[in-house]
Amino acid sequence: MKNILIINATYRRGGNSEALALQFKKGAEEACNAVNLISLREIDLKFCIGCLSCQKTGKCVLKDSMNELLPVVRNADVIVLATPVYYYSMSGQLKTFLDRLNPLYGQDNKFKEFYLLATAADTEKSAMDGTVKGVQGFIDCFEGVKLSGVVCGVGADAIGTVQNSAAFAEAYEMGKSVQ
Ligand SMILES: Cc1cc2nc3c(=O)[nH]c(=O)nc-3n(C[C@H](O)[C@H](O)[C@H](O)COP(=O)(O)O)c2cc1C
Repeated sequence: MKNILIINATYRRGGNSEALALQFKKGAEEACNAVNLISLREIDLKFCIGCLSCQKTGKCVLKDSMNELLPVVRNADVIVLATPVYYYSMSGQLKTFLDRLNPLYGQDNKFKEFYLLATAADTEKSAMDGTVKGVQGFIDCFEGVKLSGVVCGVGADAIGTVQNSAAFAEAYEMGKSVQ
């Protein structure tokens, strides 16, 4: 049994990446994991101001939801990032969240695995390249941590369209495979 944290980065309620996040959650819970899903639209998330004081103190000078969330991220075994593709990159909301994890850089964190669930209107899988590269670049900054799986929900634009793609079942199966 693993302690899984899913970060739902779309602000669009019922959106495509959220649908993949819920599918992953369903599969992971059926495999008896403990799953915590956090939607970024429901938290107070400020931009990193780049002061780097977190590298001396391990704490962030900003006061918002990240003060409570950092220990939750740090103690998860597995972290799942679900995001829409915005201009061939991850959404700004997800990027802001990852920037705010800087206090965990160089720390002895529990997480060892990440998964990425991304959706885009474009029908080519290459539409995900910028998003995967950005997420992989973040993960590579943490020793011994890997990107274990990526679901590419391409051709998903209007709400409900990802449900008709192979990615919908893939997200469920990926969640179920975590043990
Ligand atoms: C600001 C913005 C930028 C977008 N940029 C892209 C893009 O570069 N490539 C693409 O294929 N789709 C793009 N899209 C479409 C979304 O990626 C797509 O609709 C996705 O499924 C939305 O996920 P969500 O429903 O979880 O928010 C963009 C949408 C928005 C709102």
